[in-house]
Amino acid sequence: MQINEKQRLAYNYLRDDDYTYLVYGGGGGGGKSWLGCEWLMQCCYYLPGTRWFIGRNNIKDCRESVLVTWRLVANYYGFTGYKISNDSIRFDNGSEVILLDLTFYPKKDPLYERFGSKEFTGGWIEEAGEVHFLAFEVLRSRIGRYNNVRYGLRPKMLITCNPKKNWLYKEIYKPFAKGKLQKPYCFVRALPNDNPFLPPDYIETLKGIKDKATRERLLYGNWDYEDDPSALCSFDAISDVFTNTAPSSTRKAISADLAMQGRDRFIAGSWRGLRCTVKIDKDKATGRSIETDLAQLMKTDGVGRSQTVADSDGLGAYLESYLTGIKTFHGGSKPFDSTYSSLKDECAYKLAEAINNRWLQIICTKEQEQVIMEELQLLMADNVDNDKGKKRIVSKERMKQIIQRSPDYLDMLIMGMYAEVRPQNAGIRRISC
Ligand SMILES: Nc1ncnc2c1ncn2[C@@H]1O[C@H](COP(=O)(O)OP(=O)(O)OP(=O)(O)O)[C@@H](O)[C@H]1O
Ligand SMILES: [Mg+2]
Repeated sequence: MQINEKQRLAYNYLRDDDYTYLVYGGGGGGGKSWLGCEWLMQCCYYLPGTRWFIGRNNIKDCRESVLVTWRLVANYYGFTGYKISNDSIRFDNGSEVILLDLTFYPKKDPLYERFGSKEFTGGWIEEAGEVHFLAFEVLRSRIGRYNNVRYGLRPKMLITCNPKKNWLYKEIYKPFAKGKLQKPYCFVRALPNDNPFLPPDYIETLKGIKDKATRERLLYGNWDYEDDPSALCSFDAISDVFTNTAPSSTRKAISADLAMQGRDRFIAGSWRGLRCTVKIDKDKATGRSIETDLAQLMKTDGVGRSQTVADSDGLGAYLESYLTGIKTFHGGSKPFDSTYSSLKDECAYKLAEAINNRWLQIICTKEQEQVIMEELQLLMADNVDNDKGKKRIVSKERMKQIIQRSPDYLDMLIMGMYAEVRPQNAGIRRISC
């Protein structure tokens, strides 16, 4: 068996009972996919009757790319004792590797309940930078459940990835870089130069990548590559919103992004100054239940109708007639400050200002944190100059293209800034001067 030094280190961790989760990678071509396939092949071969998973963000990618490497590894060892089917690799000794589709379906399966009854010995998340945090959370609870006792095996999960500013950065890389990553987590940084088996032109190809951020990430394994220059907030500032302490305030408000016939989520935040607590987060709400939930929230949190803002599309107008006096948010309407293109742009920039200055505090669940972090990274300036240089954020369509869903939390947070930009309210303006 030939392995590179980083893969050897990875095997040491994979065999060490003190560690459950090994994050391996952080650069292109470091031998991630080879390690994953080879490790699982050995596990299945030496531990008959065990069941493992290989998960990727997309089952098609999983089949196409992982199985190519799987066959390479098998050929290298001259191993033929397995059969590949549509969604699994079955070994002649009864072991099995299930290919999992880790795609996040916010409507169909927002909690990954489809994995709820699955039982695995252990598994591998490939290209984890593309995978939703919740998929990892749910799979954590599904390993260590299939013949582990029979073999005295601790649950194990291998997570391979390139640098990505998401849960991997916050939960793994950042603590690792500060020397604070704790058991049962470990991280092995494997870069292209660590892998002597790389085809000769691989590094040259990486050097030729035009986009600086991508080149930095893949060639040098740089996790702190420059943020997109159009991003309004730094990633660190975004990560901090969950631990900031907002300046104390008596001003109360509610902002709500309403679900449109089950297409989006119904999200409502209750504000105390710049401290926002996510109070409602629902899928497929009806007009009637939205009205009841909002009315209830206003009552429990002591927020008046004039302090409640909801989006204006369809349901907002419906609500306005039942909850007379609530404000409907017309994002496209004229801003208070004419340097912005619209009211929504003005509110979005105000939100970015609050984030960068560490004034904004968001109270929510750990799962919501990950989604919110992703959505706040969508706060990007639209530099297309067709509006006399007025400040504008990228369109909702562009945002949806990037995250493949509607940024409902972001919309709720942007609307929450309405109270801050209204001229009669000093809000942040006072804090910032
Ligand atoms: N232990 C090994 N023995 C032989 N060849 C190896 C070994 N490890 C990696 N390789 C080879 O090195 C190259 C890169 O490995 P691999 O595809 O696993 O890297 P990767 O980190 O998954 O790359 P990418 O970032 O492109 O997904 C491949 O050609 C692979 O076959
Ligand atoms: Mg790979």
